[in-house]
Amino acid sequence: MEESKQMSFLDKIDKSKSPEHVAIIMDGNGRWAKVHGLERADGHREGINSVKSVVEAASNANVKFVTIYAFSTENWCRPDEEINALMDLMVFAIRQEEDNLIKNNVRVKSIGDTNRLPEKTRLALEECEEVTSKGNKLMLVLALSYSSKWEIVHATKQLIRDVRNGKISEDDINETLFSQYLTTKDIPDPDLMIRTGGELRMSNFLLWQAAYTEFYFTDTFWPDFREENFYEAIVDYQRRERRFGKTSEQIESEKKS
Ligand code: IPE
Ligand code: IPE
Ligand code: MG
Repeated sequence: MEESKQMSFLDKIDKSKSPEHVAIIMDGNGRWAKVHGLERADGHREGINSVKSVVEAASNANVKFVTIYAFSTENWCRPDEEINALMDLMVFAIRQEEDNLIKNNVRVKSIGDTNRLPEKTRLALEECEEVTSKGNKLMLVLALSYSSKWEIVHATKQLIRDVRNGKISEDDINETLFSQYLTTKDIPDPDLMIRTGGELRMSNFLLWQAAYTEFYFTDTFWPDFREENFYEAIVDYQRRERRFGKTSEQIESEKKS
């Protein structure tokens, strides 16, 4: 009995069938801080440790892409003080983690309207993308100043431009081509999306890409979400049958052939 209690969820993961891409809506930093009698910024600071844990756990679980929703377009409406604290924290976290990321073969890429970021945050991010560009164990995608509706409108404008200048014709437009205009163009669609903090919504995150994503919602606040919680989500994911519109019988017979 004692022994099974100590078993990690990592041991229950079939690593040959790990989700290739896990997307995470990290939510609950503010409520975590409140429960602990701290400031909201303290919750965000503690949340950085959860990002570190999850990056390590993803590597252990053979996940190849992790996308973290770090700041949404709508988050620009938060009080200036909180926005400033978040932008400073991002610079701090990037600087602090850069060497570790390189050592662990993690490549960082950002998606979102980064032109809206303060210069110090944008430059730190660009530098981090540059110095980690050779990482091939895991890609850490940071969604910063990101929203799905912004991304789709942005893609549509570029697509129209390319039709107008004759680069593509209207008849070329299909789902695959449209995907190439999104910020996620070289990234596979997420297999699993985790949302911490108890809310049951997508908050404008990867709406196109999540058409067939499996969802995992947990009440755990982001600063409390660590390796074991991540492994547990993957174990839950591996119990599911992804049918993509087909019947269960079709899926079963495809597995045999
Ligand atoms: C998520 O935590 C982090 C960001 C959105 C940047 P919140 O700050 O939304 O925390 P709650 O939802 O208020 O608890
Ligand atoms: C979603 O969290 C955005 C990020 C995690 C960056 P929010 O806390 O901003 O979401 P809503 O607005 O409550 O849905
Ligand atoms: Mg929130």
